[in-house]
Amino acid sequence: TFVVTDNCIKCKYTDCVEVCPVDAFHEGPNFLAIDPDECIDCTLCEPECPANAIFPEDDVPAGQEHFTALNKDLAKAWPVIVTRKEALPDAKEWDGKPDKFNLLER
Ligand code: SF4
Ligand code: F3S
Repeated sequence: TFVVTDNCIKCKYTDCVEVCPVDAFHEGPNFLAIDPDECIDCTLCEPECPANAIFPEDDVPAGQEHFTALNKDLAKAWPVIVTRKEALPDAKEWDGKPDKFNLLER
């Protein structure tokens, strides 16, 4: 499966959702999560993310391994998103800031 990681938080560009053939993305207030039970590893979303926040499960950056289980849990709790929308207002400012996990809203 593919995994949305830390840099999506407070950016949420949503370019990723448009290319997913199986509607695997779920939307929370300031983060998206991929449902691992839906993702077919097509790879299409990874290059679409302006924040480079999407990785294959086996390639999640060191220290962010917990995002794999987090995506699964949050995807179960959040609604599906299939249409791109405006990024969060301060997306550019937050893009690249490290360790945003404590700012994740549920
Ligand atoms: Fe969807 Fe493909 Fe990304 Fe999986 S890898 S979330 S199937 S676009
Ligand atoms: Fe997040 Fe990147 Fe999608 S910032 S919403 S994973 S395009």
